[in-house]
Formats: sequence, C-alpha cells, structure tokens
Amino acid sequence: MIEGSETVAKVYLVGAGPGDSDLITIKGLKAIQCSDVILYDRLISKELLDYASDYTELIYCGKSPGHHSFSQEKINTLLCELATQGKVITRLKGGDPFIFGRGGEEAEMLEQNGIYYEIIPGITSGSAAPTYAGIPLTHRDYSSSVSFVSGVSKSDESYEKYWENLAQGSDTLCIYMGVRNLTDICEKLIQYGRPSNTPVAVIHWGTTEKQQTITGTLESIVKKLSAIKTPSMIIIGNVVRLRNQINWFEQSSTEQELNPEMTLG
Ligand SMILES: C[S@@+](CC[C@H](N)C(=O)[O-])C[C@H]1O[C@@H](n2cnc3c(N)ncnc32)[C@H](O)[C@@H]1O
Repeated sequence: MIEGSETVAKVYLVGAGPGDSDLITIKGLKAIQCSDVILYDRLISKELLDYASDYTELIYCGKSPGHHSFSQEKINTLLCELATQGKVITRLKGGDPFIFGRGGEEAEMLEQNGIYYEIIPGITSGSAAPTYAGIPLTHRDYSSSVSFVSGVSKSDESYEKYWENLAQGSDTLCIYMGVRNLTDICEKLIQYGRPSNTPVAVIHWGTTEKQQTITGTLESIVKKLSAIKTPSMIIIGNVVRLRNQINWFEQSSTEQELNPEMTLG
C-alpha cells in the first residue's frame, strides 16, 4: 500500500488515464482509496470516484461551460490549505499529469511550499486513443518517430516556425486540443511540406464507449469538420492507414469509412 499516507499530509498528483477507468495504474487507484480529499478534473472517468471511501471529500475542479470552474491559482491555494490541515489529497488529472496537464506547475508549487508529494503517471490520451482506434504510433514500415503536440495557437511570432518544424519533423503527430484549430493546422502542415494526402484520424472520447473516429487526409478532413467534436485526439501520419486492418475496439457502424486513397500499399 501507499505507506504513511494515512497519517502524513501528502498530495498525490495522479494520472487517471484516458477515459476507460480500467486504464488507471494500481498505484493511482491506491491513492484514490487512501485519500481524505480528491480534487478531480473534467476528463477523468467519474467511475474512478466510486473507489474513494464514503468519507472522502470530492471536489470538482474542471473547466467546462455551465460548471463552476477553478482557476489554477485557486487549485494551488486549495491544495496548500488542505495539506496544511494534514489531509491526504489526490489531485486526479486526465491522462498523464505531465502531458498537457499542468502537473508540472502544480508540482513546482508543492515543492516551493514544502508540501510532501508524489507523482503517479497515467496513460496519456495521445497514446491510448490511437491504440483503441487501431493506430500504432510507430511501425517498422510507416513511422519511426512520434511527437505529442499542442494544437492551441501560439503567439503570432512563433506560430509559423512551430508548424514548419512539425511539418518537417516526426513521422507521426499526436495533436492535443487541436479541434478548433484543425483547418489551420492542416493548411500549415501542407504549406510546410507534408503531402496533402497524408492520412489523418480524429478520435473523439478515445477508450470510452463514446469513442468515434473520423478519418481523412490533410486535404479532406476539413470537409468533415461539422462531425468533429471535443475532446478529440488528432493523429497525423501514415500509421493511420493501419486502422484498416486493426480497428479492434470500435464495434459500431457509426464510424466513418476510410477514403479509398488511404488503402495500404
Ligand atoms: C488539457 S489536455 C489534457 C491531456 C491529458 N493530460 C493526457 O495526458 O491525455 C486535453 C486534451 O487531451 C485530449 N484528450 C483527453 N482525453 C481524451 C480522450 N479520451 N479522447 C481523445 N482525446 C482526449 C483532447 O485533445 C483534449 O483537448
């Protein structure tokens, strides 16, 4: 078990995994079970909260329309206050805390305030969603490199360079938070050298029963924008072609058919 956690104030920064509640680590689950308070984010599986004890206080910290949301400053303050009260706290974050999860900032704050903490990694959606969509991020024939990328706009100055580097960089791109910017992302990647027929998959609510994958190419995917929802993981690269053969998880017929241009070969 997680030793000492019952008596010593401590914060566990826990990766909840990508959506399927069974994809949390055993260590993450133990942290949930031993905590006095759980501060949880929007994209975590709510089923994980069922593992907490009846006495555990559950505090929602997510940011979404219609919900009371906490600023990062408020979350930091709350973590400090609860730790000062001697509580054992799990800070439960979607995917992995250190991949686009602001876990680094929270760990810095805990370190600066002398609060005892532990970081428990989670499976990131950039890896899990494509796995559940039948897309290996690397493959001997198609890809020997992969980048985890933010699709949120950079400042004007660095924006062009950012996409130029990515267009000419890793074979496979996993783009987080990119849906609203998808048209521009595709245009930039083509502009800076990716072939316009490069396959693209957009995976919505990956690893959950709501998972739905829409495919196309850098040129054609924008025609399907109206069907694309958040949260989604965008995968760009020739590995997307393998979905034709190993689409093991999605059983329903609601998924979009691959374009003829995306057949293997
Ligand atoms: C703020 S980032 C958090 C990423 C998280 N720390 C991780 O490691 O997966 C949120 C973005 O992750 C992606 N995401 C998270 N969960 C997802 C899921 N189940 N399916 C598809 N994309 C997901 C979406 O791109 C979403 O906009």
